[in-house]
Amino acid sequence: MGRKKIAVIGAGKVGATLVQILAYKQLGDIVLWNRTVDKAQGIALDILESAPVEGFDVKIKATGELADIKDSDVVVITAGIPRKEGMSRDDLLAVNAALISSFTEGIKTYAPNAVLVVVTNPLDAMVYLTMKKTGFQKNRVIGMAGILDSARLREFIAMETGASVKDITTLVLGSHGDTMVPLVRHTRIGGVPIEDIVPKEKITAMVERTRNGGAEIIKLEKDSSAYYAPASSLALIVESILLDKKMVLPCSAYVEGEYGINGIFMGVPVVVGAGGIEKIVQLNLNDDEKRDLAASAEKIRALVSQMK
Ligand code: LAC
Repeated sequence: MGRKKIAVIGAGKVGATLVQILAYKQLGDIVLWNRTVDKAQGIALDILESAPVEGFDVKIKATGELADIKDSDVVVITAGIPRKEGMSRDDLLAVNAALISSFTEGIKTYAPNAVLVVVTNPLDAMVYLTMKKTGFQKNRVIGMAGILDSARLREFIAMETGASVKDITTLVLGSHGDTMVPLVRHTRIGGVPIEDIVPKEKITAMVERTRNGGAEIIKLEKDSSAYYAPASSLALIVESILLDKKMVLPCSAYVEGEYGINGIFMGVPVVVGAGGIEKIVQLNLNDDEKRDLAASAEKIRALVSQMK
């Protein structure tokens, strides 16, 4: 049996960083596709030249031909225009929808059995479009957002309390946008509810900072949106698929009645394994949480309807 094959579409900062992390994890051979192939070649070569130092044995092929993604086990779509300061993720709808649509036929043709992972913004709309255009079953199309949003909140809690990030658990559901739903009630440090340890106003401030987590990075870096934490979050999904880890991760998944919502992609806790999304985990939400999630879902639905 040969190695697993991972295709990364787009050699921007998220794509390049993802390739590096995947190489370190040695999950499989990697194909990096980019419209400008030299750019992908440079990145692939640079990362490969670190292999003797880091000691990883994977192949990284740079390409401008979608045919090279043939028989990939996982295809990660990172291509897209990133936000600039002052823009919302939703402002990217039309341009990134056109871009995604330019890959879907090739993915269908060359990697019909792959699990697709999407990170392009506006996330929940772009995952929906990917499923519609490829015709892939819902369990094989996953959007990455909740892992990143949850990681941001966990890190802010660690900064605030000094606790280990490993002891902090939380879930951020709903859309990857201003209406995301961080579940404070399900946020714990070493199993203890955060509301028992951290004052309410501090929690509120961290939740707000999480909602603006992407914008905060753009504001600081000026010429770039976030890519380290997004790439790490993507790599975790790829790992859970290829090693069939069955991790429970907040991801954008197609809901059909779960959480009382139907026919859109939105952030929910899912079990990720070899089959992609193997299950949507149902949490008991209180009325406030249900209301926030429903409002977030309506935002996504409105955005998706703009594409039709
Ligand atoms: C962010 C982008 C990836 O949240 O949406 O940084």
